[in-house]
Amino acid sequence: MDFELSAEQREIQALTRDFAEREIEPHAADWDRNHTFPREVFTQLAELGLMGTCVPEAYGGAGTDFLSYVLVLEELSRADAGVGVTVAVHTSAVTLPILTFGTDEQRSRFVPPLARGEHLGAFALTEPEAGSDAGALRTRAEPDGDGWRITGNKQWITNGRHSGTFLVFTRTDSSTAGARGVTAFILDADQVQVTRDEEKLGLNSSVTNDIAIDGAYVERDRLLHEEGRGFRVAMQTLDGGRIGIAAQAVGIAQAAYDVALAYARERRTFGKAIGEHQAIQAKLADMSMEIDAARLLVHRAAWLKDRGEPVTEAGAKAKLFASEMARRQTAEAIQILGGYGYTKEFPVERYYRDAKITEIYEGTSEIQRIVIARAILGLQAAASRT
Ligand code: CAA
Repeated sequence: MDFELSAEQREIQALTRDFAEREIEPHAADWDRNHTFPREVFTQLAELGLMGTCVPEAYGGAGTDFLSYVLVLEELSRADAGVGVTVAVHTSAVTLPILTFGTDEQRSRFVPPLARGEHLGAFALTEPEAGSDAGALRTRAEPDGDGWRITGNKQWITNGRHSGTFLVFTRTDSSTAGARGVTAFILDADQVQVTRDEEKLGLNSSVTNDIAIDGAYVERDRLLHEEGRGFRVAMQTLDGGRIGIAAQAVGIAQAAYDVALAYARERRTFGKAIGEHQAIQAKLADMSMEIDAARLLVHRAAWLKDRGEPVTEAGAKAKLFASEMARRQTAEAIQILGGYGYTKEFPVERYYRDAKITEIYEGTSEIQRIVIARAILGLQAAASRT
């Protein structure tokens, strides 16, 4: 067992941290307040190779392992969780499934522009009446000549307004309900209409949209994987995606801890720094321990993925623990800062708002517990190996 990062992993971590401290963190409060989507940041990240971190160089990526990619997500999210989710969805939920399930032609055509950050990707699974119960989706793909015509509405689509490539999950077989009969397609931006911008509690530097697809025509070259096997594409994609969201949660919690620790050293009450009071010491000790534990779960899940081992259970555990930890510990950071923590003078209230969503998207905590329970009880037939 080796807990040390490799030289290459440390290098990409340092590169991302340096960029995030200079180009992201100083603007994060403004972007949050003004709901600014920092498009130019993604161009800069692309120049550093970070819009396709774990994508092979042959497809325009940086060619790193998956663990390096989660280190990038942690560092970006530590500076701005909205930037973190934009990169996470773009990479784990769109670029990687095209690499994994696509034909050679699809990989060569769709992956390089995504990996080079020429445009963003969006993952369109969720619908107004199909969230946790993803298999209830109703978007239809009806046969038409050599292809299909796609019609339906999707909700809570991260990156929707800024995406060039959409991974869209549809029902090709209307005779079956549930997961069977779901098929994935790759669509372009001009085949999708953005119908609404969501107003959110946090993550204000990311965009979340409703989209409508109104009879978009696709041929066979847009079908990802096999007809009727799209649910498996979605589930395997989310198995990996959840590790990325767990890394995002660790980054947010780390940022809150950094502020709380510095404050505890400076702020004085009853004649000494508050860090010398045991009540505050206990909070800092718990924060530090829980962040360590979450990070270890994230790194283990990423390591398993790099070895080609199943990650369904390990990814769900990492996401569940890291997201609940981030919500708990960002609240504790506010508590350490007292009244200041509740104001916009310090960033901890933003971290608290941003942390909350990690317990909801890419599968709620309740869904993660179902996934883990099914795995340990042997009730989940399929295990992801990508
Ligand atoms: N890997 C591969 N295949 C899997 C799988 C996995 N991890 N999990 C399930 N499957 C397969 C099953 O083997 C089964 O295949 P067959 O039909 O061939 O037997 C099929 O998928 C159906 O499986 P289930 O019966 O287990 O399906 P279910 O309807 O009970 O649902 C669920 C399971 C885990 C609850 C699933 O619906 C789920 O994960 N829900 C949460 C959805 C979610 O996470 N949405 C996030 C939206 S994206 C997002 O948030 C992105 C963003 O913007 C940040």
